[in-house]
Amino acid sequence: MRFARRLDDVPPYLFAELERKIAAKRREGIDVISLGIGDPDLPTPEPVVTALAAAARDPATHQYPTNHGSGAFREAVAGFYRDRFGVELDPGSEIVPALGGKEAVAHVSLVLLDPGDVCLAPDPGYPPYTSGPVFSGAEVRYLPLEEENGFLPDLDAIPKETAGRANLLFLNYPNNPTGAVVEPGYFERAVEFARAHDLVVVHDNAYSEICFDGYRAPSFLETPGAKEVGIEIFSLSKGWNMTGWRSAIVAGNAEVVDRYRHLKTNLDSGMFEAVQRATVAALTESRDFPREMSEVYQRRRDLVADALHAIGLPVERPKATPYFWVRVPDGYTSEAFAELVLEQAAVVVSPGPSYGPSGEGYFRISLTVPDKQLEEAVGRIESSLRAGIIET
Ligand SMILES: Cc1ncc(COP(=O)(O)O)c(C=O)c1O
Repeated sequence: MRFARRLDDVPPYLFAELERKIAAKRREGIDVISLGIGDPDLPTPEPVVTALAAAARDPATHQYPTNHGSGAFREAVAGFYRDRFGVELDPGSEIVPALGGKEAVAHVSLVLLDPGDVCLAPDPGYPPYTSGPVFSGAEVRYLPLEEENGFLPDLDAIPKETAGRANLLFLNYPNNPTGAVVEPGYFERAVEFARAHDLVVVHDNAYSEICFDGYRAPSFLETPGAKEVGIEIFSLSKGWNMTGWRSAIVAGNAEVVDRYRHLKTNLDSGMFEAVQRATVAALTESRDFPREMSEVYQRRRDLVADALHAIGLPVERPKATPYFWVRVPDGYTSEAFAELVLEQAAVVVSPGPSYGPSGEGYFRISLTVPDKQLEEAVGRIESSLRAGIIET
């Protein structure tokens, strides 16, 4: 059997080897705690579940939905963007449902990139910023996120020739995996850059609702001119504990929204109407829920920060996202450290290079596990380090 080369061109999944080791440990009966994946442990808010259950019983939801999304869905999104971000969106032309942010991130590349085009993607970054462009036959140019630049890509460092060939710039703040938030003025600079080089900005907004210490993350679409040059992908997954539901939104520039919808009419048949109604409930009745979740994560964040500090791995407390991006102790690669933590403490952390080459030297911890398990995991890492099993 012969397969298309497309998948071979996607970078190898670094977690694969670690996953094999986790499975082996679990088979041996070892209680492995995974801090590796950003999948909320707590349930979806009750009004959302109730709305889905009621909608599923209504036969009107049982037929093909449209790729446009229902009027009620688009009105609810527009209302949420108005109240939360002060952004006006036309429900008729500037909003379309997506089956999760991941789907939208991957497919928007097919809308914007031809073979030979360049895609500018943050490194480290969410892996579909690479796979989407690769599937489109485009070239990915990584923009390193460096600590000294606040983990923001240095747009001025991009060679003119590269910028000239680029048609898509991915940005993502609050950021996975670094936990960084955008600095004032940065989105304005991105709009200027997009205008100068005639490219489209796709802001992947998966985490704006998980914020701490009173910080409220902005939408890219708040930026003057943003709608002329780009779109935002807003996901319900993290704020409302809805990762399994596959609910997200593509909003902003009407032409990009239209082309994305056009593509999707060829790929899927839209979001299950019952999920659309549940999403309406999330964005109306359960608007405050992400704040409650943020309090949970803030408490967990402080617990982990104190513990990491105590064992000589100082970290800044992130202002948003359920992630810590931590430097590995001297003398270790990310993968070697992740393996050691798994061996000695039976705890899984994500090696930084899973998110791109600039992730080397870091690992990511996710706070999406129950408090008790998190305490246990941090305690185990602490005792391995204290016992000198892991040298820092
Ligand atoms: C940066 C980023 N974008 C998008 C997503 C996709 O989320 P979903 O497909 O569940 O909406 C994630 C999920 O982890 C993410 O970290």
